[in-house]
Amino acid sequence: MAFPSTRLRRLRSSDALRALVRETRLELDDLVMPLFACPGEGVVRPLEGLDGIAQRSVDELVREAAALHSLGVRAVLLFGIPEEKDEEGSGAWEHDGIVQRALRALRAEAPGLTLATDVCLCEYTSHGHCGVLRDGEVANDETLELLARTAVSHVEAGADVVAPSDMMDGRVGAIREALPDTPIVSYAAKYASAFYGPFREVAESAPAFGDRRGYQMDPTNVREALRECALDLDEGADVLMVKPALPYLDVIRAVRDRFDCPLAAYNVSGEYAMVKAAAAAGHLDERSAALESLVAIKRAGADIVFTYWAKDVARWL
Ligand code: PBG
Repeated sequence: MAFPSTRLRRLRSSDALRALVRETRLELDDLVMPLFACPGEGVVRPLEGLDGIAQRSVDELVREAAALHSLGVRAVLLFGIPEEKDEEGSGAWEHDGIVQRALRALRAEAPGLTLATDVCLCEYTSHGHCGVLRDGEVANDETLELLARTAVSHVEAGADVVAPSDMMDGRVGAIREALPDTPIVSYAAKYASAFYGPFREVAESAPAFGDRRGYQMDPTNVREALRECALDLDEGADVLMVKPALPYLDVIRAVRDRFDCPLAAYNVSGEYAMVKAAAAAGHLDERSAALESLVAIKRAGADIVFTYWAKDVARWL
């Protein structure tokens, strides 16, 4: 049945009709807001052009988390910027490390807010790589024990969920063995991406030499992403993640079609920065572009979106 009897515009004629036939919905329940904890007191250090992303001392972080929670944001992802870095990244698992202190404060001051932590060494190592170095290479198996130790210290300090982002082989299994009851969101298909640029400035985690292509995935590959996902599920992951999101919508769709577990996508700092910059220059409307981006990520198949827009979405919806 073709034109003129079929007219798809009929169902677009009012807001109520468009809402009735809407296939994809964005809800606050789907979103996780990343937060960065740093030493000090009364510190809020934003990056130019990236409001919404800032380093915050624990007192300020608690204030921000409480504000997020009262706006209806239900989950945050914590990163830490430590006072000192060393070769092994020992600040990652210290009892009084920056993330551990933030977790204890948040647990007390923002009960009911789901606390997820990023488990990685790159913010804590002096060389900025995501694992320990042996002969100039990131040593996979030696790093596993340190990641598991880090995840355990997060849970002891109050984390509800741990999210390993290092891309070492076998890290989900190592963490699962140490933490049989903790949900693991695995950054399963994490690509070596140019879109992490602003994050590395906020997290002070750019590698001092070389790059991350020896452990993060090559942007050209999708079958390999499915293998990463299958392995992580076998090792005990509860949720898979694809990262970045917008340049990898096809990967999100492929993972969604292959696996039945919950699927997350990380709308990363560079994706956010591009829209911020274009909006600041007057080229597009931030709110519309952000909501369209987030819906696209959900339409591709993600259930959960990690996004710096979570707070704004809470105001917009
Ligand atoms: C840590 C980590 C990174 C991001 C999340 N966890 C940076 C990286 O791998 O270099 C990026 C997040 C973003 O860009 O918003 N390994």
